[in-house]
Formats: sequence, structure tokens, C-alpha cells
Amino acid sequence: MEATFLPATFAAIHFLHCINHYKKINAVMKFFIDTANLAQIKEANDLGILDGVTTNPSLMAKEGIKGQEAVMQHYKTICEMVDGDISAEVISTDFDGIVAEGKVLAAMHKNIVVKVPMIKDGIKAIKWFTENGIRTNCTLVFSAGQAILAAKAGASYVSPFIGRIDDSGWDGMELIHQIRQIFSVQGYRTEILAASIRNPNHIIKCAEAGADVCTCPLDSILGLLKHPLTDIGLAKFLEDAKKFA
Ligand code: E4P
Repeated sequence: MEATFLPATFAAIHFLHCINHYKKINAVMKFFIDTANLAQIKEANDLGILDGVTTNPSLMAKEGIKGQEAVMQHYKTICEMVDGDISAEVISTDFDGIVAEGKVLAAMHKNIVVKVPMIKDGIKAIKWFTENGIRTNCTLVFSAGQAILAAKAGASYVSPFIGRIDDSGWDGMELIHQIRQIFSVQGYRTEILAASIRNPNHIIKCAEAGADVCTCPLDSILGLLKHPLTDIGLAKFLEDAKKFA
């Protein structure tokens, strides 16, 4: 009995891995821009490759936005500019406050994703939002354990902060690989939104690791365009083109 049960179990596990792998092969990593700056959002959107925007209180403050009304107006403007998911972060840290803020944000536009910090009341609130049809992005994730909790609560996105992990002397990309492995094995549907991107190579590594989304500063996105041999090659082509103009 055991002799037939074990191979069948392994075959089933292998089959599930293949399905998960196949799903990843057919998924395309989305590009979000990580800013509240309207000019930068427009520049990335005009490239035609933008799938969404992430903001946070620091990015909003950097734009000099002051007061609740101005904050809401700014989110509305971003939602009108980009047809994709827009993460808007709550400021409250208690369950009632997070839920109250999140309800207002989510009611503003269908593309708003409520960004909730990885804290105890944040997890409770994510569960509440999930049960009430409001999408969430669990932010400030620095470990696989935190990612598992967020996924279990039903977060739409989980945001591991690669750059800040690198800054502290650890390897941010290792966390992306670990979460990808766990989510694929367990079948969590939460999307891995790689955040705190510092350079174009981070984006390439995230694509390699199977991140579902990469949220990047404009500079890092534009950095993907650059290669000195492209510039040298183009200059030569344009020079030679003059010969038959
Ligand atoms: C996005 O969701 C995060 O808030 C952001 O990527 C953090 O980036 P930082 O580490 O550069 O501040």
C-alpha cells in the first residue's frame, strides 16, 4: 500500500510544481512607478509600459502635498492619469483607524489598492478588507514570515523592500526568491510586488526571480534603456545614413 502511495504522492506534488511553474512562465512582470510626482508618472506612462503606481507618506510629503483634501485630490489625479492599480497608504496604525481610512480611499476610485503596514492590526485589517472586497498591498515587508502572514490574510500584494534590505547589509533579492518559492509551493495568490528598487539591475533580478510586479523610481526604469554600445552603434548608423541621403 505504502509503496504505491508514495510515488503517487510525489507525482502529484511534481504535477502541482509544474502547474505553478507553468503559471509563472505565462505571467508577465508588471511595471509600477514608485513616486507621487505627477511629471514622472506622466513620463513613465507616456512610455506605454506602465501598469500602476505606488505611493507612500514620504513620497507624498516630498511633493509638498498638505491636508486631507489635497491628498485625496492627488490620488484622484493619479487615478485619472494611469489606468492601473494605484497604492494609497493609510496613516493609522490601529484596526478601526486603518479600516476607516481604507474604506474612504477604496471608495474614491476602483483602481485604488489600500496600502497597509505589516503590523498586527494591519494584518487584521487586511483580513477585513479581503472579506469586504477591498484590495490591499501589505507594505514594509522584510521577511518571508511577514509575507506568509500577509498572504494568509488575503493581501492582493505583498511588498518586500529590496533596497532597504541591501542597505542594511543583507541580500534583498534572496528574500524575493524565498517568497516566490513559498508562494508557488503553497499556491498563495498574493502578488509579489518588489519595492525599494534602487537601480536597473534590481529590476532585471526581480524579473529573473519571478516577482509579479516591480515598483521602480523613474531613473531605474529609464536606466534599462541604456547601453554604451547602443549609443555607439546608433551614432555610426546615423553617420553612414548620411552617405545615401
Ligand atoms: C513602495 O511601495 C515603497 O514604499 C517604496 O518602494 C520604498 O522605497 P524606498 O526604500 O526607496 O523608500
